[in-house]
Amino acid sequence: MTSPWYYPVHIAHRGAGKLAPENTLAAVKLGYDLGYRMFECDVKLSSDGVAYLLHDATLNRTTNGMGNANDANWGKLSQLDAGAWHSPAYVGESIPTLAMIATFVCAHDCALNIEIKPIPGTEAHTGKVVANLAAQLWRDSQIAPLLSSFSEAALAAAYAAQPSLPRALLVETVPADWQNRLERLACVALVCEVTALNDKHVRELKAAGYKLLVYTCNSPEKAQQLLALGVDGVITDAVDVIKPTFA
Ligand code: G3P
Ligand code: CA
Repeated sequence: MTSPWYYPVHIAHRGAGKLAPENTLAAVKLGYDLGYRMFECDVKLSSDGVAYLLHDATLNRTTNGMGNANDANWGKLSQLDAGAWHSPAYVGESIPTLAMIATFVCAHDCALNIEIKPIPGTEAHTGKVVANLAAQLWRDSQIAPLLSSFSEAALAAAYAAQPSLPRALLVETVPADWQNRLERLACVALVCEVTALNDKHVRELKAAGYKLLVYTCNSPEKAQQLLALGVDGVITDAVDVIKPTFA
């Protein structure tokens, strides 16, 4: 475990992705205004190779477009409205590129957790491209982005491309062979679904020297309990009720 860990304990999920349209610059800015200094976002590649923010495999839920995200080039994606679905206040909000988000977080001394969310079949390519782009976008920053993914192929490609960028494995449940997986990918952290974690996991992961984050924890009491137990970070939608601290 050689990578430094300089991340806040409270992380705004998809920006402030419930109060504002998820994975938009407006959501990140709202999280910032509420005191958050680290943001999680979902990144995939357009058909012509632009890294942009979108959670789903289709455009249907969070934009005024329709169809599979993998059919869209950046020319099409950049014209879509990614805010109207949320509420009238966000009509006209666009899908951001990763570069747009990097500009904001670097200018405001914030941290970013880039969840590499590849379109199925593009895992290794997306991991490599996003890692290379992140290294370039954050080249003058003291706070490296944390790359995470459910896709081990994406993380392996990110590791091969930019070994110095910190990585975290995302899991819905803690696999029995978690240590082998983290070692193989040279991850610094595991990011686990909040209800799947138990005290034993926390003890073992910490004893092995790994950082541990949870998603998506929206209860202030649960967040406090997990942090007291030794969890290193809480990814939350509840940015209006969980007050960020920077320990
Ligand atoms: O990165 C943690 C969390 O965002 C993973 O789940 O579905 O919200 O991307 P999801
Ligand atoms: Ca995510």
